[in-house]
Amino acid sequence: MTLTPVAPLPEHEVRVRAPGKINLSLRVGPRDEDGYHPLSTVFQAVGVFEEVVATPSETFELTVSGPQAEVVPTDDGNLALQAARLLAERVGIDTGVHLHVVKDVPVAGGMAGGSADAAAALVACDALWRTGLSRDDLLDLAASLGSDVPFSLTGHTAVGSGRGHLLTPALTRGEFHWAFAVQHRGLSTPAVYRAFDELHGHDTPAEPDAEADVPLMQALRAGDARALGAALHNDLQTAALELDPGLAEPLAVAEDAGALGVIVSGSGPTVAALARSRQHALVLAAAFTASGVADRVLTAAGPVAGARVVSATD
Ligand code: C5P
Repeated sequence: MTLTPVAPLPEHEVRVRAPGKINLSLRVGPRDEDGYHPLSTVFQAVGVFEEVVATPSETFELTVSGPQAEVVPTDDGNLALQAARLLAERVGIDTGVHLHVVKDVPVAGGMAGGSADAAAALVACDALWRTGLSRDDLLDLAASLGSDVPFSLTGHTAVGSGRGHLLTPALTRGEFHWAFAVQHRGLSTPAVYRAFDELHGHDTPAEPDAEADVPLMQALRAGDARALGAALHNDLQTAALELDPGLAEPLAVAEDAGALGVIVSGSGPTVAALARSRQHALVLAAAFTASGVADRVLTAAGPVAGARVVSATD
């Protein structure tokens, strides 16, 4: 009698995808006593994704692959590892996890790649350990990890207040198409906020003006890319340009190539250009490449969902 070999059980693994974001509008108030700035912002999650694969391990470990993998810290400074540890502590798990991050969102690019990793790690470990935590519990943990992590969990399009962590979903119609000029030289978010304080500390209104985004919200509801392009706004843009004057080039290139609007994404240095269509996004990307103003060029559509399990094995 011949025995059919038993296929080895696949290692228990959870794979989660989380998107990068842009701030369609970012309005910044004065620094508070905790060192943070009150924000009124409109986030949109776009189809540039991080993937985090969680497998059981005795210890907490992290590996990274992808275009800029070598510049990502793999020690305790990594936000995804911090997320896994925090969740383990919260639910009393006394084992570790191995996280493998496949990076595609630009590193230190103003598109919340590190926050996406943290959100993905929370969702992956939550599924691996079957914690039974509610979505609100995960959102609380996310907010304690970083201002952008809750949005990386929820995705789509949302208005952010507080530090950017208090979210209200925004109604949108259809898809918007983007081209991104990515720089390998990142910008430090705290440094950009410090430059903002120096430039605008004296004239910043006590509360960021959410009312100013009414036309932007109308454009989103109507699915009107032209009106959205005209309404894009970033209070941090002058500060990012002060620290990295070369960013004027991709901004100008996108305008010349007929972008409906172009802004520095979040604290930069990624430049996001809004296109008329998917084809036009490719034209904008080609213009970035041809003029040599970007280290890497991406196109993506938004909005897309937040951190989600894409596959899991038992
Ligand atoms: O919350 P997160 O750790 O991502 O913030 C990184 C840094 O960005 C903060 O230490 C602070 O300097 C700056 N920041 C800010 N105001 C915000 C969000 C971030 O000043 N609303």
